[in-house]
Amino acid sequence: MATSNNLNQRRILLGITGSVAAYKSAELARELIRLGADVRVVMTESATAFITPLTFQALSGHAVHTTLLDEEAERGMGHIELAKWADLILVAPASANFIARLNQGLADDLLTTLCLATDSPIAIAPAMNQAMWRDQSTQENIHALSNKNFHLLGPASGDQACGDTGPGRMLEAPDIIQSLYPLFNSGALQNVNITITAGPTQEAIDPVRYLSNHSSGKMGYALAKACVDAGANVTLISGPTSLTAPDRVNCIHVLSALEMLDASLTQATNSHIFIACAAVADYRPVTAASQKIKKDSDSLTLNLVKNPDIISEVTSSQPSLFAVGFAAETENLLKNAEKKLARKNLDVIVANDVSQSHCGFGVDINEVALLTKDSKHSLPASPKTAVAEWIIEHLAPIYHSWKTNKTHG
Ligand SMILES: Cc1cc2nc3c(=O)[nH]c(=O)nc-3n(C[C@H](O)[C@H](O)[C@H](O)COP(=O)(O)O)c2cc1C
Repeated sequence: MATSNNLNQRRILLGITGSVAAYKSAELARELIRLGADVRVVMTESATAFITPLTFQALSGHAVHTTLLDEEAERGMGHIELAKWADLILVAPASANFIARLNQGLADDLLTTLCLATDSPIAIAPAMNQAMWRDQSTQENIHALSNKNFHLLGPASGDQACGDTGPGRMLEAPDIIQSLYPLFNSGALQNVNITITAGPTQEAIDPVRYLSNHSSGKMGYALAKACVDAGANVTLISGPTSLTAPDRVNCIHVLSALEMLDASLTQATNSHIFIACAAVADYRPVTAASQKIKKDSDSLTLNLVKNPDIISEVTSSQPSLFAVGFAAETENLLKNAEKKLARKNLDVIVANDVSQSHCGFGVDINEVALLTKDSKHSLPASPKTAVAEWIIEHLAPIYHSWKTNKTHG
């Protein structure tokens, strides 16, 4: 079982039902938030008789949802939106009544409706008197729910609030949290701060024209998503693209190489990994004309000056960064990538061949090789989302062993 925290940035909808154990959910909410989870709370009507919504509003920093047929709430984050928002619905405590309704597929209040409307996993931590737990109906419901792939957390056995002793106590908050870890991804880059550049840059010629390239930004955006999914805190510095930044990514929009450099230098101070995936224009006009250039003459000469090499500038200002470059080549792919890896003193380089029309710029497919100074992995042509996941899967262990060597070396 995984034991490290992979709850950072996970969206957890905490459902609370009418059990005396509801007081334990305050500690649970607090601990989830402390571990970096984004927690929203939904309470059944009975739950509000045991603990106030105000407690959870104060702990989570968000309004607590209690009713289904609420026009005001539907105007904010409505029930379907809330169901889609959640990465996990955790019902703790789950009363015998709620368990029965859940098993029957009822949608007669907000929490049961959300459970039906979500595609995300649902975990329940039962809490009830030992006789209620042992009751045949409860046992049948529990059995049926585990066959339907609901995650059952507990219950524990021991002294009960009513004075009985036996099974039915809700698990303690640390035990519930421990059981949640395996429900999420590996957390291979948990809490690692990553800055990624993506897309093309635009170098102004005059107020209406610019120099640029065919980069769509798809690879960088897919990488940003894969990093977030692996638990990282991601800043995406994006040149102009038509894409929407993935959820949970802090996106900074820039136009020119100089703007991208500026943002990169600022973000790098707070980053562990810098991934330079943008197709930065190599040259820019020495000056951009302040007025639109007229087409009076038959020819026009543009004076260009080399743009700064962003990854080199970033690594020389932050030598402790783990630096990942991209090499888009049209010939001698691996040889050129190896040279670039050494010349720029990168930790990893991802090489892709942009000479083939079905791969690389502007399309959804990419074929890449990932190189360090002592290893080489390659991936056949695959969708960019799969390429991004593959890159992160290989990058994470390389980063962690680099970090260990740095600490001990
Ligand atoms: C003092 C008190 C404590 C209760 N504790 C529990 C409990 O721990 N577990 C449980 O299943 N029901 C318990 N109940 C009964 C539930 O509150 C009741 O079945 C309620 O309808 C549950 O509603 P809900 O499932 O919509 O939250 C308790 C009732 C009272 C009055």
